[in-house]
Amino acid sequence: MADNQAEAVASQPFVAPPMVYVEETPEQKARKQMNRREFLTYAWGAALGVLVLETGAAMFGFMYPRFKAGEFGGNFFVPLSALPSTDAPPQAETAGKFWLVNTVDDGPKALYMVCTHLGCLYKWEPSNNRFECPCHGSKFSREGFYIEGPAPRSLDTFPITEEAGQLVINTGKKILGEPATVSPAVAAPA
Ligand code: FES
Repeated sequence: MADNQAEAVASQPFVAPPMVYVEETPEQKARKQMNRREFLTYAWGAALGVLVLETGAAMFGFMYPRFKAGEFGGNFFVPLSALPSTDAPPQAETAGKFWLVNTVDDGPKALYMVCTHLGCLYKWEPSNNRFECPCHGSKFSREGFYIEGPAPRSLDTFPITEEAGQLVINTGKKILGEPATVSPAVAAPA
């Protein structure tokens, strides 16, 4: 009996149900538009929030020093009483990557330890009373002036100020050395 009913149903042609179009009420339309508007408002708000946060972070980074004192990129403090005499050999401050030297003409100088040619670490050569670079042979006077070799300029320095009986060396601000051609220590032609 059930098999007969199933066969009868299967043999009938399929008739699709009629399409019923339900028109939205004005309230539904208004609600849909409101949702779209709300979404855009929230999206704009979120974008603005991100922008404000990024600007705040950038200003914070600008206003507050990124480097601590005693760390390369920050300030180094040397008591005036510890300043070497004008004829003493330079003192290496490896944490700050500079040589501290006291000069007759320019007072204390902080010489960046990196050669101005291709960036090797030059050395103090006491027997010659000058700095010498082991890489390509550039030479610099005790005051950091170019003497000879392929380096294009004298040694770079860091600015020094004096505060409350101390020298303050700012290793975050490099001052490029003068061109080799104007160096007062340049070797006379042989
Ligand atoms: S890196 Fe010093 S002379 Fe070349």
